[in-house]
Amino acid sequence: MKGKEERRLRIVTIDGPAGSGKSTVARAVAARTGLRYLDTGLLYRAIALFLSRKGIPPTEKDSLRTALEDLQLTLEGDRVRIGAEDVSEALRTPEIDRIVSLYAALPSVRKRLLHLQQSQAVLPGLVADGRDMGSVVFPEAGLKIFLTAGAEERARRRFLEQSSKGEKVLFEQVLSDVLSRDETDSTREIAPLSVPKNAIVVDTTEKTVEQVVIEILRLIDRTFGENGSGVAGGAL
Ligand code: DC
Repeated sequence: MKGKEERRLRIVTIDGPAGSGKSTVARAVAARTGLRYLDTGLLYRAIALFLSRKGIPPTEKDSLRTALEDLQLTLEGDRVRIGAEDVSEALRTPEIDRIVSLYAALPSVRKRLLHLQQSQAVLPGLVADGRDMGSVVFPEAGLKIFLTAGAEERARRRFLEQSSKGEKVLFEQVLSDVLSRDETDSTREIAPLSVPKNAIVVDTTEKTVEQVVIEILRLIDRTFGENGSGVAGGAL
């Protein structure tokens, strides 16, 4: 993408830990702005599903790299396919919750997803939700948000989400999963979860989804204005 078109591309990145409200907020912001929603956690989940089905643990780096060469992963809207199979419904389970961050810490896995994520940046732009959106995948994004919330509150949200789907989960287990995932995501060597340079930190602990969405919509207005050019670089 070149020149004027590039300048019109609006990239909003929303990074933050599990349960900070990223996907709910990012989805709502995308719907209200007409930007596309990109949930990159789904892609990491799909890779975890693919490799665990093949029985390849995160420690087997060589067989894992070979298996990734055969992976045909596609994203259409928020549907994810492995080959011809739509795996979208199988990705948000407690089992995948427990293993995904171990696979997401591997350089070969992150490298495999980089281009697929960046290729989603087409006009009018997107709201990208993940852990390294503002730091690695879209470092030139016009607006970078870092959403956070206290660990107990994040576990409470995950617990309610999973219970409402009829899954039998214990709050203590969900909290311990959230804490161990935070630890793995923020201490890994490659692309650790961190506040990207120039990001605006929004703490959602005591805010409703609507309050956070409105705060971000205001920031989008302020950043991109009516003609769509970002003050902080604006384009890829
Ligand atoms: O947002 P989520 O819970 O669906 O993310 C699933 C896992 O993938 C989580 O452990 C962090 C990892 N992830 C990542 O490392 N980088 C991203 N851009 C998105 C997710």
